[in-house]
Amino acid sequence: MKTLSFFLLVLVSGSLLFSSCKSTGTKTTESPAQYAEQYRPQVHFSPPTGWMNDPNGMVFFEGEYHLFYQYYPDSTVWGPMHWGHAISTDLMHWENLPIALYPDSLGLIFSGSAVVDANNTSGFGKEGKPAMVAIFTLHDMVGQKAGKKDIESQGIAYSTDKGRTWTKYENNPVLKSPGTPDFRDPKVSWNVETKKWIMTLAVGDHVSFYSSPNLKEWTLESEFGKGIGAHGGVWECPDLLQLPVNGKADQKKWVLIVNINPGGPNGGSATQYFVGEFDGHKFTNKSTEIQWADQGKDNYATVTFSNIPETDGRCISIGWMSNWQYANVVPTGVWRSAMTLPRELKLVSENNKYILTSEPVKELQVLRDRKTDLKSEVIKDKLELDRQLSNPVLPVEMDLKFSLPATEASSDFGIELYNSKGENLLIGYDKTKGEFYVNRTNAGNSNFSKDFSGIHISPFILNGSTVDMHLVIDDASVELFAMNGKIVMTEIFFPTEGFSGIRLFSKNGNVQLDSGVVYKLNSIWK
Ligand code: FRU
Repeated sequence: MKTLSFFLLVLVSGSLLFSSCKSTGTKTTESPAQYAEQYRPQVHFSPPTGWMNDPNGMVFFEGEYHLFYQYYPDSTVWGPMHWGHAISTDLMHWENLPIALYPDSLGLIFSGSAVVDANNTSGFGKEGKPAMVAIFTLHDMVGQKAGKKDIESQGIAYSTDKGRTWTKYENNPVLKSPGTPDFRDPKVSWNVETKKWIMTLAVGDHVSFYSSPNLKEWTLESEFGKGIGAHGGVWECPDLLQLPVNGKADQKKWVLIVNINPGGPNGGSATQYFVGEFDGHKFTNKSTEIQWADQGKDNYATVTFSNIPETDGRCISIGWMSNWQYANVVPTGVWRSAMTLPRELKLVSENNKYILTSEPVKELQVLRDRKTDLKSEVIKDKLELDRQLSNPVLPVEMDLKFSLPATEASSDFGIELYNSKGENLLIGYDKTKGEFYVNRTNAGNSNFSKDFSGIHISPFILNGSTVDMHLVIDDASVELFAMNGKIVMTEIFFPTEGFSGIRLFSKNGNVQLDSGVVYKLNSIWK
């Protein structure tokens, strides 16, 4: 979609809209789903039934991680947006809760964030009993159909029962449209220096920062981004966070995440970021080139959790594991789309550059089952792993360390998943080309979209001779975290028969496997 507006118009003509705009207050995400269908993710969150896109309102509160998400319960294609809701105590196992927010007379409930109002600035809570406050975009579909431009405004809702029920603020919207159609996806955080809330908002080709003492009244502080960074599409779902550099708490930098659609490095949707300073009013960019948080085709709308306790101190993100190029037509059954694994974000400084790194959160370890250690050996062509692993081989986590002898100038090596139908998926590093890649040209079902099949790359010139690859492979997705999380690629796939074999391969030269650990992962749904 060139812009969301275009996409929404297509759907309007498909008469999907308004079928569920009435808020019944009783609909839940509970369903008889078994989470055992073909392509159903086993270690990733997906809705029991219906359509899902962006993660929303991620917040930690009283021992629970809340994941809200863009949800259309009545169909498996995008439609009138609600906020679906799930909670977890370990970021891995999720419990589905009733829908949190329904469309109302002001519009559909588009993406946004949630905070814990610890100082009761909003007055929605009580002394010692803070409210959770959700801040979201109200999208006026009726206005859009009528050709109006002032169709997006921001609203808030609060909960005083740990997110179980939500009350919309009677004076919504709290931030009216300035008349520009793309004005959405508020990410709100508390700024300790100014002692105000800061809202980072996507406004077409830039982000706008607003401040508020109470979450109800908002003042424009500044804008960032016109002509800076990637602009192949509309800016959406921004986030502003502060991270220590190389783990040093006294050397922090601000990271501005901006999701963009289309215009991603491999086509369609993707997550870019900028590193710089934020003085409570304005963001100053220090990045000198375009940087992507994940170069796979299936990571979008990445945002982070708020209210992670200081004793924990992590910055944890989740993205939507799809791409607007084909999200509505992927061949899943009663549901569409899954989230990425929760990831810990860090900032490293290297060669005068700040790089955002991602790794799965350490809680992934709770899913680890049978462990297989691979012995160090030279891979000449193929090294079959399925005989060493138990069947079914997926979902699986792999931690592989390779080294390339200087004499092997052209090695192209990695991991291959395959099935008895001759379909395969390759995840590798090509030394000659200087790039990591995921090749899904022969990975099964792809005729649902011309944009799906392909070899997708993440350029990376090796500095030394070693390559590390950490992978989490689910029934229909792979997440590659290479070079200590500096290279991230997320891709989905749909083999006509589940991948039942895994091998390591090396082409055009040998590669040395220095060490390898493989964990079979337990399903989060069983
Ligand atoms: C991003 C997005 C957001 C919007 C939501 C609508 O995927 O287009 O900008 O709020 O999806 O579902």
